[in-house]
Amino acid sequence: MPTVFLTGANRGLGLEFTRRFLQEGWQVFAVARTPSAELEALGANPRLHLVRGDLLDEEFINQLPGMLEGETLDLLINNAGIMGTNSFAGSGRLMQGLADFDRDEWRQVFELNVFTPMHVSSRLLPLMRDGSRLITLSSIMGSIERNSFPGWYAYRASKSAVNMMMNCMSLELESRGIIAVALHPGWVKTDMGGAGADLEIDQSLDGMMQVIDGLTTDDSGKFIGWDGSELPY
Ligand SMILES: NC(=O)c1ccc[n+]([C@@H]2O[C@H](COP(=O)([O-])OP(=O)(O)OC[C@H]3O[C@@H](n4cnc5c(N)ncnc54)[C@H](OP(=O)(O)O)[C@@H]3O)[C@@H](O)[C@H]2O)c1
Repeated sequence: MPTVFLTGANRGLGLEFTRRFLQEGWQVFAVARTPSAELEALGANPRLHLVRGDLLDEEFINQLPGMLEGETLDLLINNAGIMGTNSFAGSGRLMQGLADFDRDEWRQVFELNVFTPMHVSSRLLPLMRDGSRLITLSSIMGSIERNSFPGWYAYRASKSAVNMMMNCMSLELESRGIIAVALHPGWVKTDMGGAGADLEIDQSLDGMMQVIDGLTTDDSGKFIGWDGSELPY
């Protein structure tokens, strides 16, 4: 039975990832601070292990290898993320402009979007089997080539950092055959994406599950979209 560890399982894309992997027969270790009713309902499945904790808490992350002792991971998905001050759901496209700079906001966004996936990947690496897959959810908003409207400095910069981080991991982990990619889910109707987004959660997940399933070592180091397209850094 393959095993996946994923973060941000409470709602949005992470909740649906959890549901999908359970449906496909995986054992799922799913991180949530306070599990939602939907996540608790999935908890009836004995293959789901809820891992309760705050990903901004360094000690929680340091304790993860101990909590998963004896397990071998086939897949790690760093999914949890934040945009900072509201999200697309509640604000316009010009949020987080230059005049709005707030050091604490940058700290929070970078803590969760960059430091956390780096920290989780580092601590769980010894549990990952050779040839496994390591994915961090990125965003096309982190693409410098595709940067097309202003604002969202912290979020954009954090996802650019994720892209670099995953590319570096692909180089370091090549000898173990571990495939490291940055994955863009599309603009999706979650709390973060808002009701005006392009994609339903199901559409994004249909695409991402297919992408994840089809990953080969040739894909390692790439920035890939939900539909399988290679995206520019
Ligand atoms: N939706 C989009 O259009 C879109 C587009 C591009 C990229 N992405 C990326 O896709 C990923 C998932 O996005 P989403 O749309 O599903 O977001 P979402 O609906 O806002 O959900 C975010 C998830 O992250 C969790 N989380 C936040 N802070 C946490 C913390 N300190 N500790 C533990 N968990 C925490 C949340 O848990 P709580 O319920 O406890 O807050 C929630 O489960 C993110 O990395 C995002 O940047 C999304």
